[in-house]
Amino acid sequence: MKGIVLAGGAGSRLFPITKVYSKQLAVIYDKPLIYYPLSLLMLSGIREVLIISNKETIPLYKQLFGDGTHLGMQIEYAVQDAPNGIAEAFIIGEEFIGNDSVSLILGDNIFYGKLNFLYEAYSNFNIGGTVFAYRVTDPERYGIVEFNEESKVLSIEEKPKQPKSKFAVPGIYIYDNNVVEISKKLEPSARGELEITDVNNVYLEKGELNVQMIGRGVAWLDTGTPASLLQASNFFGVIEERQGLKVACIEEIAYKKNFINTVQLENVIKEMPNSLYRDYLLQVLND
Ligand code: G1P
Repeated sequence: MKGIVLAGGAGSRLFPITKVYSKQLAVIYDKPLIYYPLSLLMLSGIREVLIISNKETIPLYKQLFGDGTHLGMQIEYAVQDAPNGIAEAFIIGEEFIGNDSVSLILGDNIFYGKLNFLYEAYSNFNIGGTVFAYRVTDPERYGIVEFNEESKVLSIEEKPKQPKSKFAVPGIYIYDNNVVEISKKLEPSARGELEITDVNNVYLEKGELNVQMIGRGVAWLDTGTPASLLQASNFFGVIEERQGLKVACIEEIAYKKNFINTVQLENVIKEMPNSLYRDYLLQVLND
């Protein structure tokens, strides 16, 4: 399975933080935001990742991750010229996806907690699409799942004015290879975007959409506003300081997942300036 991190969007609610760089480079406690979604793909065992962003920011991501070799990964980059919607990522990424299935994660979505549900969704994935449903207090802002009395999914509505449930579809999606053709056939929505919700409804109509509930104990954090950025920073600051373990430390994950060996991790550490992050990785090496 291939992975895509879509780091698009104007991030206008975070201006002027986003005047110079895209919001997925904003800091969450001790590392750039994009580390969190990227690490999720890595934890799910995905080693080939395409990062999609605007042309101004792609060089910065290249500076951050290079071609991914040092992480035992293959990281590629592609430009989305304008915020034309999440589903456009599958058109942009057509060649990268090839004949494989693909998981897309939004570059500003953070998940934390007991993520077994996710790892299982990856290992059980076969055909169609798998998406998730997470209870939120502000359903007007998301793709929202409508259920009948038997908890069967009837539809997904994008940012409904009158939401039919409180269950939002978070920005992590798993699809078979048909997603490319499905995306190509979409028409832009009223807001001028190729909507991921329309992709999901195509799979739903074919009877091929698996919607899995995410229960309690999992945090899906928002990072769209200064207040939510601060909350996310505090959240991870508390956890990391208390346990002395880092969340979304991509080099550690690459090592623990055997993407790289001890010598490779040593080499990665050698390249780092003296920093708390480097000290942490040295500790990982010696543990
Ligand atoms: C997008 C999707 C929406 C989904 C959300 C998750 O919203 O369109 O269905 O629930 O991401 O973050 P947007 O970022 O375009 O507001």
